[in-house]
Amino acid sequence: MNERSETKPRNGTITLAAIGDLHVNEASEHRYRDLFAEISETADVLALCGDLTNFGKTREAEILAEDLRACTIPCVGVLGNHDYECGQPEEVAKILHGAGMTVLGEQAVIVEGVGFAGVKGFIGGFGRGELGAFGEPAIKAFVDEAVDESRKLENALRTLKTDRSVAVLHYAPVVDTVEGEPLEIYPFLGCSRLADAIDRFDNIVAVVHGHAHRGRYRGQTPRGTPVYNCAIMVAEAELNRPYALIEV
Ligand SMILES: [Fe+2]
Ligand SMILES: [Fe+2]
Repeated sequence: MNERSETKPRNGTITLAAIGDLHVNEASEHRYRDLFAEISETADVLALCGDLTNFGKTREAEILAEDLRACTIPCVGVLGNHDYECGQPEEVAKILHGAGMTVLGEQAVIVEGVGFAGVKGFIGGFGRGELGAFGEPAIKAFVDEAVDESRKLENALRTLKTDRSVAVLHYAPVVDTVEGEPLEIYPFLGCSRLADAIDRFDNIVAVVHGHAHRGRYRGQTPRGTPVYNCAIMVAEAELNRPYALIEV
C-alpha cells in the first residue's frame, strides 16, 4: 500500500481516477506532468481510457511516457483508435508500459483488492441498431472484430475473482454516454456487445471509457452497472476538472 493510501480516509473502497483522449502530439511536451502528479495525490489508481496519442507515433508515446513518470500510483489503461493510426500499437503500448502503465488486454490486474480488466473495444452500434454479421464478407469481418473485442473483455473479466472489478474501455459500451454527439455517428462511437459481456458478471462496480468527446459523463448498462465517459473533454465540461474520480 502506498503512502497516499494510508493517509486517505477509507471505508473499504479505493479512489479511481480515470481519463481518456489525451491525444498527445509532438507539441504536447509536459502538458500532463502536473496533472499526473495531482492525480497521484488524490486517487489510489489511475485508468487511462485510450486515444492517449494523436496518431500513434512513437515520439508522441515517448512524450506521454515522460509525463507519466510523475504518476506515483498504479496506472492501468487501454489504447484507443488514434493509438493505432501509425500501425504500431505494440510499440506505443511498449513505451507506455515502460513508464509504468499496465496495458490491459488478455491479462487483468488487481490493485488494492479491486480487479481491472480492459480492451479497446470496437464500433458497431447499440441495442436494436447493432450491426449483425450478415451479408458481405466485409460486414462479417467488421462484426467479427467487435465480437472478438467483447469476447476478450469477457475472458479477462472472468479471470478476476475479486468482489469488485472495473472494466476499462476506449469505445462506449452503451448509448447513454454518447448522447450529445451527432446522432449520425452513434454507431461509430461504440458497441453494446461490450455491455453484454459486462452484464454477465455481478462484481463489476464501474465501467470507464472515452472516445465520445462530446458525449455525456454518466450512464449505465442494461443491468444497471454505472458507466462513465471519462474523455477529458467530457470531464472538463461536466466535472470542471479533466478527470473523473470514482470510488470503487
Ligand atoms: Fe479521442
Ligand atoms: Fe477514439
